[in-house]
Amino acid sequence: MPRDTANEGPVDPDSHVAPKATRNRTLRVDPSEVAALRADLANPAHLCDDEAENQLDQVIVGDCLSVMRNLPRGIVDLLVLDPPYNRSKRFGEHVHAKRSLNTYSAWLGTVLDAARPMLKPTASVYICGDWQSSAAIHAAADDRLHVRNRITWEREKGRGAKTNWKNNCEDIWFCTVGENYAFNVDSVKLRRRVIAPYRAAEGTPKDWRETEGSKVRDTHPSNIWTDVTVPFWSMPENTEHPTQKPEKLIAKLVLASSYPGDVVLDPFLGSGTSAVVAKKLGRRYIGIEIDEQYALLAAKRLQRAETERAIQGYEDGVFWERNSRR
Ligand SMILES: C[S@@+](CC[C@H](N)C(=O)[O-])C[C@H]1O[C@@H](n2cnc3c(N)ncnc32)[C@H](O)[C@@H]1O
Repeated sequence: MPRDTANEGPVDPDSHVAPKATRNRTLRVDPSEVAALRADLANPAHLCDDEAENQLDQVIVGDCLSVMRNLPRGIVDLLVLDPPYNRSKRFGEHVHAKRSLNTYSAWLGTVLDAARPMLKPTASVYICGDWQSSAAIHAAADDRLHVRNRITWEREKGRGAKTNWKNNCEDIWFCTVGENYAFNVDSVKLRRRVIAPYRAAEGTPKDWRETEGSKVRDTHPSNIWTDVTVPFWSMPENTEHPTQKPEKLIAKLVLASSYPGDVVLDPFLGSGTSAVVAKKLGRRYIGIEIDEQYALLAAKRLQRAETERAIQGYEDGVFWERNSRR
């Protein structure tokens, strides 16, 4: 079953011991790996704000609201916020209860306020949510940041409903701290197959080219993304985290809104997707995760990213339409 990234459904309490099917590549932390991986995690008690360099490329276990207070100011170029959505949902040991929109919005505001001192004046901020929390996200962001767009991405497979439309998409709000910000549009072009390959009078292709036997066009990315696959069991990036984001999705944010060497902060790191993507794309990262089991998963993925640099769906400097790469 593909995972639903939208915080739906219970976590299988026995999932960490269930035997894996042969082709199931889901990444797990074996009890024998815990001690070594734990050594890779940063201890929030040792954070000290005068040594910014020492705080980079770290996964910190703790509550982001208190951890961020002790992190260096003005070092972050890109903030990726993928908080628990406003649903009743268990993440490991922690249960999040659904709240009123106003309460959720106020809570998100406290997260943004805690992160704000860490941001550079040129920083960009992306906030993930679903249709139920989107209005609350907009309200919290609009009070504090320049809201520039809302990206909607298709979650390839949603759950059917008998009395409602199937919930098949999620949102990501794009905001910036100021008027000056990075946006590398050429880094996030989408390669599409050309259905009607027109030629100019002299026979040259009009705005398309031939590559590996396919006629393709690299198109400007819009705010509707239909080319992302939610990690599922046969994908190497898949973990047991219940709401893991696809690497391809986060890669678009990182490439558009940061440069190599820039710092990406993710206060709700989960299984580590944004840190892994930052590492694969030559950025620095700081990840904070309250649940140690998820932080260990992130540490394991980061170790693998030392040698496994591929991001599924991103190749040759472009994003490929789903199922278009041979
Ligand atoms: C929606 S998930 C993020 C998933 C992540 N983007 C990924 O790809 O795996 C939210 C995560 O935030 C963590 N979390 C919840 N409250 C937190 C807090 N106060 N501080 C740090 N992490 C928290 C949860 O344990 C959960 O793993």
